[in-house]
Amino acid sequence: MTEHPVPAPVVPPLVRPRRLRTTPALRRMVAEQQVQARQLVLPVFIREGLTEPRPVSSMPGVVQHTRDSLLAAVSEAAELGLGGVMLFGVPEHKDATGSGALDPSGVLNLAITDVVAEVGDQLTVMSDLCLDEFTDHGHCGVLTADGRVDNDQTLAAYADMARAQAHAGVDMVGPSGMMDGQVRVIRDALDAFEHTDVGILAYSAKYASAFFGPFREAVDSSLVGDRRTYQQDPANAREGVREALLDVQEGADMVMVKPALPYLDVVRRVREAVDVPVAAYNVSGEYAQLEAAAERGWIDREAAILETLTSIHRAGADVILTYWASEAARLLTR
Ligand code: PBG
Repeated sequence: MTEHPVPAPVVPPLVRPRRLRTTPALRRMVAEQQVQARQLVLPVFIREGLTEPRPVSSMPGVVQHTRDSLLAAVSEAAELGLGGVMLFGVPEHKDATGSGALDPSGVLNLAITDVVAEVGDQLTVMSDLCLDEFTDHGHCGVLTADGRVDNDQTLAAYADMARAQAHAGVDMVGPSGMMDGQVRVIRDALDAFEHTDVGILAYSAKYASAFFGPFREAVDSSLVGDRRTYQQDPANAREGVREALLDVQEGADMVMVKPALPYLDVVRRVREAVDVPVAAYNVSGEYAQLEAAAERGWIDREAAILETLTSIHRAGADVILTYWASEAARLLTR
C-alpha cells in the first residue's frame, strides 16, 4: 500500500489584502481615486478649406474637422461634461514665419471665436500657442539665416499670437513651443492688452519625443530634422521640474508635462514641486499604439483606455488632455 504524503501545515496569513477586493461594491468603496470627465480635455484639429472631415490615418477615430464638424464635436464634449477643449489650427497655406497664426482671420483664431460662441459657457476653451502648425519648415519658431530656431524673435511672434487668440475670445492659451521666457512674454502681452483674465496653461516639461509622430500627420507638418534644440532630452527628469518652476515664476496658471505615459515620474515630481494644477498630455503616439493593438485584437481597448487615464491621474495629473476624452467620459458613467 502506498503511503499518501501528509500535507505540510500552513500558517494562515494574519493580514489578507484580498479581503478588500472581494466584491465590486467593496472595491468601488475603497478605490483611492477616480478620474472624472470634468478633468478631461479634448484636443481637436480644424483644417482650413475642408468641406468634409478628413480622417487622420495614424490616429483611427481622430479627424481634421471642418467648421461644422468641429462645432458638433465640442457640443458633444460639453454635453458629456468635459473640462475643456484644446484647439489646433491647420492652415491651407504655410510660410516661413507662420503668419497665419497671427492673422485675426486665420483658421485658429476664427475657430476660437466659433467655439466660444457655441460652448464658451460650458467648457474651458484653450488654444495651442505655437508656430509649428503654421510654418512651412514645421519648426515651433522662426529661423535664423543659418536655420536655427531663434528664441527671442520667436517670443515676439508668440506675444502677437497670444494677443490674437485673446482677442478671439479664448479662455486659456497653451504655449507649447519650449522657447525660453515664453510664459513671461505672453503674460505681459496679455496684460498689456487688457486680457488679464486669459490664463496660461504652459507646456512646461515637453520632451523631444517619438510619441508625437502621428500628430505631424494631424497638422500636415512637413518637419525635417528634429526639435532637440528646444524640446527636452528624455533622459532629464530634474530639468522637467526646473522648467515647471520657471513657468510658475513667469506667471503660468497651470503647468503641463508631455507626453504622459513615458513621463509619469516627471508628472509625479512636478506635482510635488508646484502648487498650481498640473496637466498631462496623453499624446498622439500613446493613442496610436493602443488603438493599433486593439485593432489587431491584442488588447482590451476600453479597459486599456481607462487604465491609461487612471495611471496618469494616479501619477498626479489634475487635468488630462486625451483624444479619448469624450469616449472616456461615456465609459466613466457606465
Ligand atoms: C506643438 C505641439 C505638438 C503637439 C502638441 N503641440 C507637436 C510637437 O511639439 O512636436 C503634439 C501632440 C500630440 O502628439 O498629440 N504645437
